[in-house]
Amino acid sequence: MSGVFVHERGLCESDEVGDGTRVWAFAHVLPGAVVGRDCNICDGAFVETGAVLGNGVTVKNGTLVFGGVTCEDDVFLGPNVLFTNDFRPRAHIKKGPDQLVDTVVRRGATLGAGTVVVCGTEIGSFAFAGAGAVVTKDVPPHAFVAGNPAVRKGWVCECAARLDDALHCADCGSDFRVADDGNGLTRV
Ligand SMILES: CC(C)(COP(=O)(O)OP(=O)(O)OC[C@H]1O[C@@H](n2cnc3c(N)ncnc32)[C@H](O)[C@@H]1OP(=O)(O)O)[C@@H](O)C(=O)NCCC(=O)NCCS
Ligand SMILES: [Zn+2]
Repeated sequence: MSGVFVHERGLCESDEVGDGTRVWAFAHVLPGAVVGRDCNICDGAFVETGAVLGNGVTVKNGTLVFGGVTCEDDVFLGPNVLFTNDFRPRAHIKKGPDQLVDTVVRRGATLGAGTVVVCGTEIGSFAFAGAGAVVTKDVPPHAFVAGNPAVRKGWVCECAARLDDALHCADCGSDFRVADDGNGLTRV
């Protein structure tokens, strides 16, 4: 943990945090949360026991990452992103970790500001949720989704630009095709 920066008003209680990660003021990383290398946990963020973040993950201000959530490498969580882990919560019904519902955000995906993620969903690699999206079902790799409930409005490149109808990125020149399993896109 020698290579971890924790702001003097940040609270990092996990001993599984990778080198180069920064935990800023009023952010709280609980014991048993796993955080990779070179992550940025911004002011007021919360990373709970049982949450897993890969390397290079950005967690912007006020974002809540509860147990059962996994974010793979290079995921970007905008400010006030809100995960859930209990599909039908009741205050009087106490649930253990094995009764909670997992969520996974695949490598390189972006969740815009204020995205709400209903648990049990998988957000595919390099997918992009627009600000304020409410994700209620799986999002295919490279899909651009927005709204409540979030629906697919297009496709995005690894560079985050929209793809044209030929699945070409005018910004960086990348080309994509439908993945062999029919779920989202893959780079040509
Ligand atoms: C998604 C985004 C990048 C815009 O992308 P874009 O390719 O320029 O999208 P467009 O403006 O062409 O919009 C495409 C469609 O999606 C809709 N749309 C775009 N963003 C939306 C949003 N956040 N919520 C709902 N609908 C949205 C547009 O209204 C449009 O709908 P239509 O085709 O029915 O008219 C931008 O709106 C966004 O949400 N960025 C995230 C910003 C953010 O949260 N940053 C966090 C760090 S500060
Ligand atoms: Zn591109």
